[in-house]
Amino acid sequence: MDSPLPPLQKGWQVIKSGVPKNVLKFRTDLPVPTDIPKGHVLVKVLAAALNPIGYKLMAMPNFMVKRPVIAEHDLAGEIVIANGTEFHVGDEVFGLVPAELSMKTGWGSMQEYAIVPAEALVLKPKNIDFTTAAGVALAGQTAYDALFVIGKLEEGQRVFINGGSSSVGTLAIQLAKEKGVRVDCSASGRNTDYVKSFGAEQVFDYTKKPLYEQLLEANISPPYNVFFDCIDATANLFVHSKKYLAPNGIFVSTGPNVHSLSALPIVLWTMTRIYWPTLLGGVHRQFKIFLFKSEKTKLQALADLIAEGKLKPQVDSVFSFEDLPKAYERIMSGRATGKIVVQVL
Ligand SMILES: NC(=O)c1ccc[n+]([C@@H]2O[C@H](COP(=O)([O-])OP(=O)(O)OC[C@H]3O[C@@H](n4cnc5c(N)ncnc54)[C@H](OP(=O)(O)O)[C@@H]3O)[C@@H](O)[C@H]2O)c1
Repeated sequence: MDSPLPPLQKGWQVIKSGVPKNVLKFRTDLPVPTDIPKGHVLVKVLAAALNPIGYKLMAMPNFMVKRPVIAEHDLAGEIVIANGTEFHVGDEVFGLVPAELSMKTGWGSMQEYAIVPAEALVLKPKNIDFTTAAGVALAGQTAYDALFVIGKLEEGQRVFINGGSSSVGTLAIQLAKEKGVRVDCSASGRNTDYVKSFGAEQVFDYTKKPLYEQLLEANISPPYNVFFDCIDATANLFVHSKKYLAPNGIFVSTGPNVHSLSALPIVLWTMTRIYWPTLLGGVHRQFKIFLFKSEKTKLQALADLIAEGKLKPQVDSVFSFEDLPKAYERIMSGRATGKIVVQVL
């Protein structure tokens, strides 16, 4: 180690339930951990990225999640304590503090020194900077799981991505194209060229009229093998999917877009329509909501594609460490194209 670790560090803690500006506390007195559990390392965080799960967990009541907890999960930085793992001090890495681990420990990525499982880190490709690398792990593995672990897409097949300009969506377009899968997607008119630049073919402007109506009119043939919805578990898109999703195809969703508990009734109504039994007129198509699972092999696959120039992660905007509440305003606008990243050190 070049210089000894400081005793204290700065970090953003979530201290109660609510919206980011009301529940985040900037701490300058957090101890820098030195007692690192086996299989974990200490990372000097250079950049950390936001994900919708960050503000969605903040909205949950105290009895459901751990508080205080360091905000967010995605990060990129340098190893400062390798702790007998495969890493060495000074290695440049990216990865994440998995949400399930944050819930148990209170750990997270929005701090200067973060404990991270070695399994959830890989070496940063040399052709991207820390800012870009910080946003890859969570969105990239989500796209990977939807397309290949759940969707089991193969070369020559077709996928529809609802939300092509989202962080998950742009990575999904590129991963699918790299596999030889044909991609159509939804995006607003102003993002049509953006999604086409990653390889999307037919782009449906969701702002013009309901997407399911456009898909019904388009007479999609052959139908999609996977419909990947990374915007919302939209009931109408699934209810009408028999016309554009192959009989053995699957509708894969990242889950309902719940910003606050007040959205729960509409979510319950949507779920009822989606899970209505086929015997009673429900849809004869598979539907799956999933939570991505972090695995080293997937992170490495993403890193390799980035190193080969085949996967280009996008950054929407970069904020200073002190400006985290402003970064949340940007992600909660729902208009970002790429990751919102905070420069930590
Ligand atoms: N289940 C999991 O494991 C998992 C993991 C990661 C993320 N997620 C979820 O996946 C979703 C996407 O996350 P993200 O980080 O990729 O989001 P994001 O980058 O913040 O998404 C913003 C983008 O979505 C587009 N958009 C908004 N409404 C749209 C609509 N109705 N149709 C098409 N595009 C629309 C916006 O484009 P315009 O400005 O043009 O509208 C914008 O480019 C979130 O709900 C997140 O919670 C789930």
